[in-house]
Amino acid sequence: MMFDGRRIVVTGCASGIGAATASLLQDRGAHVIGLDIKDGNTNTDEFIACDLTDPSSIDQAAAAIAGPLHGLANVAGVPGSFDAEVVMRVNVLGLRHLTESLMPRLEPGSAVIQVASGAGSGWRERLDLIRSLLRARSYEAGLEWVRTHLMTGTEAYNFSKEVAIVYAMAGSMLGRPHGVRSLSISPGAVETPILKDFYATMGAQVLDRLKDQSGGRNGSPDDIAKVIAFALSDDAAWINGADIPVDGGSEVAIAFDLLDQPQENAAEAFFGSS
Ligand SMILES: NC(=O)c1ccc[n+]([C@@H]2O[C@H](COP(=O)([O-])OP(=O)(O)OC[C@H]3O[C@@H](n4cnc5c(N)ncnc54)[C@H](O)[C@@H]3O)[C@@H](O)[C@H]2O)c1
Repeated sequence: MMFDGRRIVVTGCASGIGAATASLLQDRGAHVIGLDIKDGNTNTDEFIACDLTDPSSIDQAAAAIAGPLHGLANVAGVPGSFDAEVVMRVNVLGLRHLTESLMPRLEPGSAVIQVASGAGSGWRERLDLIRSLLRARSYEAGLEWVRTHLMTGTEAYNFSKEVAIVYAMAGSMLGRPHGVRSLSISPGAVETPILKDFYATMGAQVLDRLKDQSGGRNGSPDDIAKVIAFALSDDAAWINGADIPVDGGSEVAIAFDLLDQPQENAAEAFFGSS
């Protein structure tokens, strides 16, 4: 899984999962072009300042990226403690605007990875609503949609991640003519600066229970970066239009309604006693 000679764009490269992804891809030989609103010079070969809330800043960043590209990892994101419109601008509208600006520049065999979240796992229940947003095709039309569908910051965060999953799946149809795969990766709780916001919005009881379910620890940025690197690589050539959960197995407690069971009783609560 080496990336020698490949030029890969990573957003959110200044912190957390994006910083770990940029470092790992560099270690594996990629030329990493990092985008972030904060200074992300340390993990990248080229750093371009970019504010994903602002389509003109995205246009300038896309214009500043030279040459052919071999991958795009959209990692940047903000949590539900931010204003709902900012959440939707960064996590959905900016992510989509950058993806579609760079798509024609991606060489066949490349992949686009959208970092979503386990918080987006309810996408099937809101598919019509998600599709109505995705049919507002420009950044400005999307913003108009956001301004007529008011949400709290937390609702917007969960919804933004549902949209990211659906956009990655449906994005396989946009990528097909270019020979570009499209995937999302949905982390569970990861030890980054954002995690304190999730404790504030989701509560320690749920997050600590999920941590027990995944073996007593949260994910590390490297746990997620390794899967992003895999998804970008030729080894993942037959994975397309799909979401990959990377959560140490914590989602099992939600899927099987086991959150009110202590971890040590969970298997018995599901399978019954032997
Ligand atoms: N940490 C977790 O528990 C967790 C869980 C699930 C999903 N995620 C997702 O992983 C991604 C990375 O998050 P992280 O945990 O590394 O958080 P982080 O806060 O460490 O990193 C987020 C990065 O996004 C950048 N960013 C924020 N606003 C921006 C803007 N307007 N324009 C450009 N860049 C901007 C920040 O500067 C930062 O470098 C996010 O999309 C997040 O939603 C995180």
